Formats: sequence, structure tokens, C-alpha cells
Amino acid sequence: MNFEFKTFDLAAAAREKCDALIVLFSAVMKAETDSISALTSSAMKAGDLVDKPGKFLMTYRPSGMSATHLVMASIGEGSLKDVRQAVSAAISAVKGKAAKKICLCFVTQPHENALASAIMAAADASYVYVATKTKPEGRQIQRVLINVPGGLKLKPSFDHAVASVAGVEFAKEWANRPANYATPTHLAGAAKALAKFPGIKCEVLGPKEVASLGMGSFMAVSQGSDEPLRFIVLHYNGAPKTQAPTVLIGKGITFDSGGISIKPAGEMDEMKFDMCGAASVLGVFRSLAELKPSINVVGLIPSCENLINGSAVKPGDVVTSMSGQTIEILNTDAEGRLVLCDALTYAERFKPRAVIDIATLTGACVVALGAVRSGLFSPDDSLASALLSAGEYSSDLCWRMPLDEDYSESLKTNFADVANVGGRAGGAVTAAKFLQRFTAKFTWAHLDIAGSAWKSGANKGATGRPVPLLLAYLMTLAKSK
Ligand code: BES
Ligand code: MN
Ligand code: ZN
Repeated sequence: MNFEFKTFDLAAAAREKCDALIVLFSAVMKAETDSISALTSSAMKAGDLVDKPGKFLMTYRPSGMSATHLVMASIGEGSLKDVRQAVSAAISAVKGKAAKKICLCFVTQPHENALASAIMAAADASYVYVATKTKPEGRQIQRVLINVPGGLKLKPSFDHAVASVAGVEFAKEWANRPANYATPTHLAGAAKALAKFPGIKCEVLGPKEVASLGMGSFMAVSQGSDEPLRFIVLHYNGAPKTQAPTVLIGKGITFDSGGISIKPAGEMDEMKFDMCGAASVLGVFRSLAELKPSINVVGLIPSCENLINGSAVKPGDVVTSMSGQTIEILNTDAEGRLVLCDALTYAERFKPRAVIDIATLTGACVVALGAVRSGLFSPDDSLASALLSAGEYSSDLCWRMPLDEDYSESLKTNFADVANVGGRAGGAVTAAKFLQRFTAKFTWAHLDIAGSAWKSGANKGATGRPVPLLLAYLMTLAKSK
């Protein structure tokens, strides 16, 4: 979808030829003399328009305007949530009207975050999945002009939001594809395609290379599948080589059946989303290609299927990770940590300023935080607070979880250095404690996105989170340097 930044006023907006003109108003709006303001205030007086986010009034061919439809949508107090609700409702309403070109007007100058919220909401409400449909309806809305009063001050925030949308949509697209259309090899293809953008390079390792690196833990997960594993390495270089990179690691299980510790059949299809961490890393690189910040970023994606054949790993098997630590695989369904631990060890070679792994890691995190906030784990206060703020800034929230050493107790075993599961209690934390054993050489954070990365039910689909959070964090690094 194409966004354009405009700074004209309401009178000019009324003259803009488009399928739908969406005016985001609030009651605090000054009494102006232009036709839109006049219409809005008379509709409010008549009680046809209520000043409550999500409420709107749509009219056909309003006189004196060039738009086919005019939508007057309330943003209430103008909070991020209000703006998101208003834009979602208005866009959903015009979607039924075959609208291609939309003009979205802020009547008063929005806060930069509110502008971003509007852009994200517009993209989200108009996204259509088509990849595996034979008669796809496709995306109707092609162009969105964003009108903001107050000149070019908000242009950088606009650019950031548009880049974030490009990343979110890239992530959603790959995450939504079924596992037979999004194998580890397909994901590697998507990463290679990103390397066409200037500043991005991509390298893909297969089973042989991974074996000679000694990634015994990653290989154990993959061995029950006929689909070959891929270890994807992406580089974004926007700063001199001497500057330490941030490493992002995305869990790339393209389908998680649970392995021999098999999952129940109900909703098992949703385990195609078990590569949402990987998709978010790809998405961030897509955004970096747009914004070209002066930082260095490495993306690592250990990708394979967790299936069951005659050579599948069995409960009780002990494997040796790249770090040298042995792991007793007590539950083959706790596979995410097994692929991530080897990627964490691989990350050491980049002497990173920080490593952030992103994973749909535990059902326990869904129980703890639901779909609202991702779980954030980090022993480093300053990294944790930077990620928390990036989440607030981008409306892509996370919540800090504990990492007390006592949570490691349940990972002890008689047969290896560590077991891959503890008990059911505190499952999101024990998973993080397992990962932490492989992070001694760098500053680290872990995002458990099991609850936030996709929606179930009638609107089943990937959300593209936490691309906005990660991008907001990376952009602060580019500024603070
Ligand atoms: N991919 C799942 C986590 C998951 C489950 C995400 C449900 C979203 C919804 C992960 O590989 C897994 O199966 N984790 C197990 C760990 C357990 C065996 C310790 C879980 O959460 O049940
Ligand atoms: Mn699993
Ligand atoms: Zn999994």
C-alpha cells in the first residue's frame, strides 16, 4: 500500500479527488468556516454524529467536495487507542465501497505516535491475504494520502511509520502462509530476496554447514522431518564495520507438531505460526531497507520443522549444543529453545552490542500475558527499559518478566548439563532461564511473542508484531550514537 504525506488544510482536502475522504475530528476542533467543519458541527448538533472513538458518519457525494464518500470519524480525546479505533472503523466502512484512493485528514496536529497509530491502523484494516487463494479479491485500498496540519515537522515520524508498516506486512505475509508454502527453504528465499536492497546481505547455511558448526541441538529438532533445515544469516550495514551490531534471532519453526511429545489435534494448524519470530526478523530488515539508519544489524534465523518420522528425536535423548553443553530432551515439544540456543552461541562471533531473540516460545506466556503484551526477559536493566519504551512508543507493548536463579532449579537433571523443560509452573520463565545459559558473552533480551504474534478465531492471522517495537528500538540506537 502506498502512503503519501500532505500538509494541506481542510478546504484543500475537500477539493482532493478520492474515493473516500476520512476526516478525523474531535470535539475540541475550532469552529472553522470550511465546508467540512461546517458539516461536522451541524451533524453533531443534530445528534447524527457522536464524539466517541469508533463512531462515524458517512455521506455520499457531499456537496462542494470532490470525494465520493465523506467519513467524519471521531477520535475522542485523541489518544493512540482512540485514533486506532477511529481509523479502523472508518477504513472498514469504506472497504465495502470499492475505495481505492483514500484521503485521511487530521483536523488538529496529531502527536507523532498518533500519526503512526493511524498509519498502522489503516494498513492493518486494509490488509488482505491472497497468497493461496485462486480467486483472490485482493487489496482494494491502494493509495492513502495522509493530511496533517502544521507543515513538514511530522515527516520523519511519517517515514518511520510507513517503513514500519512495510516490515509488518512483510512479516504478516510470511507468517500467514501455510507451512507447505513457507518451508525453511522458502524462508531462506525470502531472506535472499531482501538482500536485493542496498545495505543488506544474506547467507544461508544448510544441514552440512550446521553439522560442522556443531549445532547438535538445532539438528536434533530437525531430524524428524524430511524438509532440510536452514540457518539464515542476514546483515544490514548502515554504519562503519567497526561499529558493533545488534543481533536479532528469530525462532523459525515452520511447523510445530510437538514431535513425539505430540500436540493435541485441535488448533494444531496454528503451529504454522511458530515462525513468527523469524518473520519479525525478516520484517525488521524490510523496514531497515526503507529507513537506512546508520547502525549495523545481524539477523539469525534457525529454521526447521518439528515433526515425527523414524529418526525423530525421542524424550530422554541427550544432545550436545554448539556451546558444548549437553541437553536432555525430556519433551520434544519444547523445541524452540533447542534451536535458539545454538543460534545464541553462533551470535557470539559478531561481538554484538546486544542480542535480542524473538520467539513464539511458550503457551505459558499466553496464559500470563494474553495477546496484549509480549513477554520481555532480560537481566540487563538498561536494555529492558529501552525495549519497554520502544514498545510504548510504537504501541507494540511488552512487559518485563523475572529471571531469578531459583527458576533454574527445575531444569536440573541427572543425565545432562541441563534439561529442556522444567515443570508446568512458571513455564515462560524456565524457558527464558534455559536460553540465558547460552548468553554469558553478551547483553541479551528475550521476547516471548506466543500471545501477541497472531490472532486466533474468525480473524485468524499474523499481527506482524513485534516489528514496530524492534524498529523503534533500533531507530533510537541510530539517533543516540
Ligand atoms: N510453539 C510452542 C509454544 C506455543 C504454544 C505458542 C501455544 C503459542 C501457542 C512451543 O514450541 C511449545 O510447544 N512449548 C511448550 C513447552 C512445554 C512443552 C514446556 C508449551 O508451551 O506447551
Ligand atoms: Mn513446541
Ligand atoms: Zn514451538
